[in-house]
Amino acid sequence: MLIDTYGRVATDLRVSLTDRCNLRCTYCMPEEGLQWLAKPDLLTDDEIVRLIRIAVTALGVTEVRFTGGEPLLRPGLVDIVRRCAELSPRPRMSLTTNGIGLARTAEALRAAGLDRVNVSLDTLRPEVFRTLTRRNRHQDVLAGLAAARAAGLAPVKVNTVLMPGTNDDEAPELLAWAIENRYELRFIEQMPLDAQHGWTREGMITAGDILASLRTRFRLTPEERQARGSAPAERWLVDGGPARVGVIASVTRPFCQACDRTRLTADGQVRTCLFAREESDLRGALRSGATDEEIARLWRRAMWGKKAGSGLDDPSFLQPDRPMSAIGG
Ligand code: GTP
Ligand code: 5AD
Ligand code: SF4
Repeated sequence: MLIDTYGRVATDLRVSLTDRCNLRCTYCMPEEGLQWLAKPDLLTDDEIVRLIRIAVTALGVTEVRFTGGEPLLRPGLVDIVRRCAELSPRPRMSLTTNGIGLARTAEALRAAGLDRVNVSLDTLRPEVFRTLTRRNRHQDVLAGLAAARAAGLAPVKVNTVLMPGTNDDEAPELLAWAIENRYELRFIEQMPLDAQHGWTREGMITAGDILASLRTRFRLTPEERQARGSAPAERWLVDGGPARVGVIASVTRPFCQACDRTRLTADGQVRTCLFAREESDLRGALRSGATDEEIARLWRRAMWGKKAGSGLDDPSFLQPDRPMSAIGG
């Protein structure tokens, strides 16, 4: 079991498969991209599957989410999913993606054993998409979403970050569209995890702003408290339900006390939190011949050091050294 000193148990593993991305979202990374990890530093497919096997069979992990960067850029993704689906107990598996290329791979991912996907989409307007992501791929994302739905990767969730002056007027329109298309929409507060360190509290759209904007067009009623569990999204019924909308308010309503996550970066470091300042080197252990039991012990020890929260409200808060695209969202 992966338990920390606050009694939280991590059952949800997020695995970053690459730090690379084919978009350049302004709230994430600069136009020119970042210094990507070198190939030899990345875990191999075999190493990833081995670590997931240890997590599932020895450490009580029941949910595995593949992230990036953009995980669809990892050539071995379908194969990794297939091999993880053969583990016993079989973990539930999901993918967080920007949707580019999903139209081509959704069926294969489903056949390999993937259960569901979360797709990032911040706007319904192609020209705003181009401004926000610096790429002209809006259609690919819409096609990817439709393919995921058709392949039965349900529920298909859509993640939206609102940026002031760019897409912050689109919330009601996005919700109407999501309901019509049977996607579960969640708005995410922008977090200080961008490579450029440009985030400011004053410059972000808060959960309060988002709800106020949605209420100009919809009646929202909170879903019962226990329905949230350890999920970061708080959910509201829209016009009495069954449609729902979620808000992930990591900054103004943090959910750290219920956190059930552990993370693995693409270069094989365990992180206990998105905002952690320390990492534990599992790749080094793997490559120096550690046994499964030794790796499990290192992972348990890392989780024992998990902090109470993100520290975002501390005056001494420091952004982690690695940006979100390198940590795994
Ligand atoms: P579900 O299981 O579908 O609810 O997934 P999710 O919402 O946890 O995952 P997803 O990858 O779609 O992430 C949505 C947003 O939540 C992203 O902005 C993530 O960075 C953020 N997020 C995920 N895990 C954490 C976390 O542990 N802490 C914080 N603060 N944010 C997180
Ligand atoms: N703050 C909040 N969400 C972010 N994402 C990327 N960077 C940030 C940030 N700084 C979102 C992406 C994607 C999800 C994994 O995280 O848009 O939907
Ligand atoms: Fe790529 Fe996601 Fe970062 Fe956008 S937010 S640039 S899709 S890693």
